Amino acid sequence: MRHLMNPLDFSVEELDRLFDLANDIEKHPENYAHKCDGRKLATLFYEPSTRTRLSFETAMLNLGGNVIGFADATSSSAAKGESVADTIRVISCFADIAAMRHPKEGAAMVASQFSSIPVINAGDGGHQHPTQTLTDLLTIRSLKGRLDHFTIGLCGDLKFGRTVHSLINALSRYPEVHFIFISPEELRVPDYIIDMLKEKQISYEEVIKLEDRIADLDLLYMTRVQRERFFNEEDYVRLKDFYILDAAKMGMAKPDMLVLHPLPRVNEISVDVDADPRAVYFKQVQYGVYVRMALILTLLGLEE
Ligand code: NCD
Repeated sequence: MRHLMNPLDFSVEELDRLFDLANDIEKHPENYAHKCDGRKLATLFYEPSTRTRLSFETAMLNLGGNVIGFADATSSSAAKGESVADTIRVISCFADIAAMRHPKEGAAMVASQFSSIPVINAGDGGHQHPTQTLTDLLTIRSLKGRLDHFTIGLCGDLKFGRTVHSLINALSRYPEVHFIFISPEELRVPDYIIDMLKEKQISYEEVIKLEDRIADLDLLYMTRVQRERFFNEEDYVRLKDFYILDAAKMGMAKPDMLVLHPLPRVNEISVDVDADPRAVYFKQVQYGVYVRMALILTLLGLEE
């Protein structure tokens, strides 16, 4: 039985197969409409979410399956003090596969050790968010035709942003990806990620101003400042509007640079960018459903 905790749990070849499957689902959704008839997905969300939970639920419904679950910890037995280990043992009796989001790093990993059904990490604290990364990679591969040989700027909260950590991990396996990390000093990429890049001799730069490097980017991954992970509100208020991508800055970028964002957006992308064909963050949401469909099929062994 397989789980998904980290994008690196799948080899590059396995990811290619997963993305091929997702692209086929996009083209021929009718061929997949009954693949999960009679199966159930449990969504165990201990932390707020709109798109990730609904994306998982939509994916399972599109496959003909059903969904059960909870959308916040206060409405589950966690409020009575139940451990994640016990919850997943119970859920294993109800569902065929589970997606878990939790504010604590490593929670989904603990669940996977006690589970008799595949567990998908749908975000664990500031750590990893592998299905967002699958979404990001599928979007890039589908729209750019490749996952190598480009310069990607990651901008915003690179310290607490788990989507950033998962994406850097995943892209570090493809040739000639050059990273430009754009953040204020306080929100720099964690040292453990910098150490990994140094060890693998992957080229990266750290800069503070987006305007300084936007012209060099093939991809720009914008992120929200992660308010819920700050220790004090003053720091959040000081940093929250550090970056605002607007039409003027887009004017400095390459004509084929893509702008991605895991969403939710707060102020970091002005709405005047939305109509720009290079802004693909809403397309990304659609790719997220296809890739979660492909993932559910793969983890349930139904992909043939
Ligand atoms: C992200 C998350 O939850 O980490 N959202 C998402 O799943 N699409 C990004 C964020 O909350 O900023």
